[in-house]
Amino acid sequence: MLRVAVMVSGGGTNLQAIIDRVADGTITNTEIAVVISNNYGVKALERAEKAGIPGICVSPKDYSDREAFNQALLDTVNSYNVDLIVLAGFLVVIPEQMIDEYENRIINIHPSLIPAFCGTGYYGLKVHEAALERGVKVVGATVHFVDKGTDTGPIILQKAVEVQQGDTPKVLQQRVMEQAEWKLLPQAIDMIANGKVCVVDGKTVIQE
Ligand code: GRF
Repeated sequence: MLRVAVMVSGGGTNLQAIIDRVADGTITNTEIAVVISNNYGVKALERAEKAGIPGICVSPKDYSDREAFNQALLDTVNSYNVDLIVLAGFLVVIPEQMIDEYENRIINIHPSLIPAFCGTGYYGLKVHEAALERGVKVVGATVHFVDKGTDTGPIILQKAVEVQQGDTPKVLQQRVMEQAEWKLLPQAIDMIANGKVCVVDGKTVIQE
């Protein structure tokens, strides 16, 4: 059974997709051990509570400096003995020590087809604003392992989504979430839970 910690910052729609897919058996061999937020009072923590999953807030505001926060975040994750950390709309830089301790065991959902519209400054609505500004006709989402770069780890899954005439950033974000993010993240977790993903020379190898 894969024990998973899901890390969130806000709305938690990706978390909800994972909760729902575990409940309906789409994600197999997996249990969500804990939801960890860096913000108090967010909808993601309400979603965890409704699902009977322990929800914890580890906020930088509660610590004297970033180092103390990083240590508290790592200690909290470690206390749940998880196999996989899932960043589901988590907007905090992952401490290097966590990446070392959980090498190729942290995954992230990014709302673009990496390497497009990713890296520092590209998150949330900003990604879709940049895509519309550039005038691309296809966008999408990517699930990747987290390394010490920003959105640079080995890619696991990607899914394309069409841009439609008149799209606003909000409308495009919703379509990418519905058609790509909420499908890819559960799919990646199920693949990992069943030993279907490994990393060779910095790239993923997926067993069908
Ligand atoms: C969304 O922009 C999503 O694309 C990105 O994080 C944001 C919030 O996601 N991954 P969520 O609703 O909190 O899952």
